[in-house]
Amino acid sequence: MDTVPGKTTENPENSHVSEQELRDAMVQCLIDMGALRTSRAVAAFRTIPRHLAAPGTDMAKAYDVESALITKTDPTGVDISSVSAPRIQALQIEQADIQHGMTVLEIGSGGVNAAYLGEMVGDRGRVVTVDIDPDVTARARDFLKTTGHRNVTVITGDGGSGALDFSPFDRIVVTVQAADIPSSWVHQLTEGGRLVVPLRMRGMTRSVAFVRDGQRLVSDGFELCGLVPMQGAGENRMRVVVLHDVEGEEIGLRLDDHPEPDAKTLAQALSMPRTAEWSGVTLAGDESNEHLDLWLTTALDNLPLMAAQPAARERGLVASASPLGVPTLVEGGSFAYRTVRRTDDPDRFELGAYGHGPEGQKVAERLVEEIRTWNREHRGDRAHIDVYPADTPDDQLPRNARVIDRPHSRTTITWP
Ligand SMILES: C[S@@+](CC[C@H](N)C(=O)[O-])C[C@H]1O[C@@H](n2cnc3c(N)ncnc32)[C@H](O)[C@@H]1O
Repeated sequence: MDTVPGKTTENPENSHVSEQELRDAMVQCLIDMGALRTSRAVAAFRTIPRHLAAPGTDMAKAYDVESALITKTDPTGVDISSVSAPRIQALQIEQADIQHGMTVLEIGSGGVNAAYLGEMVGDRGRVVTVDIDPDVTARARDFLKTTGHRNVTVITGDGGSGALDFSPFDRIVVTVQAADIPSSWVHQLTEGGRLVVPLRMRGMTRSVAFVRDGQRLVSDGFELCGLVPMQGAGENRMRVVVLHDVEGEEIGLRLDDHPEPDAKTLAQALSMPRTAEWSGVTLAGDESNEHLDLWLTTALDNLPLMAAQPAARERGLVASASPLGVPTLVEGGSFAYRTVRRTDDPDRFELGAYGHGPEGQKVAERLVEEIRTWNREHRGDRAHIDVYPADTPDDQLPRNARVIDRPHSRTTITWP
């Protein structure tokens, strides 16, 4: 009998056993990493045959917790549709706190997440899933027919307008990266309802769980994540300014409403030897930079993200090649980016900054100063993120807030 995970067999009965083993292993992994926490979500993830949503995908990949199944890429090579990775789906579903009998709107359809939601709300609940791409909705419909989820309605349209005819919703789960919060999402949510959205703030995307409080959304937790960018009326992609364009080892700065840099001067700065500044602040090997990076975003204005191909790091052109990008302080023709180095303790890394350009050392010192401030004043704190309507006057926003203005919303970040 062939029960090797990832292998399908001629015998449908054996194939079924193999699928269930893969699903159980995926669920166990999601529980172990803290992504799945509630029994209702566990039951849903154990049940849905997610590999059927992207035919032709390797079975083992379909059940790998970190693998998104890419289903569409645009002509510039940007992925625009996928079935999200199980870890991201679990994160968002737990953030949404889905209960039996609820009415839920999902924005961005792939079939799988809608089926999880359909399982969780049960027969007395309802899920509406909307996608802008008719190919995606056709595939989602087929998938949901196969899984038998009659409580899920699939519609084609721009989810930026929500789904008025089916509102109000107890929960809205946005599964595509958003730079703004359209007022329709707030208005179509019940008072006290939850909106879970991968919100891009200063270049970094965090899945934020918001609770509606009148016209305002109040955060109740967030976590870094990566998702495909929004299309339609709310499209707002980041711009990349290339600093090094040798094929395969490109390095660029991702701008998200940041001031336009002098690309030529910064490219020259990159080609100059780097200087280092170390902070004395250490992180454990498994400790995330996420709250530090949010602090840096809050404290420093001109902090785009440096993105680099792994080959650029291997050649020593940059010290880091994180796919999410590395916070990089730009001042005139110089810049500095956050980095780490090993310490004598194999489990701790020291934070610092590498500077490039004529003022590279000074810029690195400025970045390190903010790393020290975070360590001294905010380490262990969690920032608070609120969203207000775009016409909210400054004096009605929280004091000492960092404000991110977009066409439809004002997002504030405050620290305790
Ligand atoms: C990551 S995928 C969705 C994954 C899906 N929820 C799943 O089952 O894992 C994001 C989807 O958002 C869709 N999308 C992008 N912009 C949209 C918009 N304005 N309205 C509705 N859907 C949109 C894309 O077509 C894409 O299929």
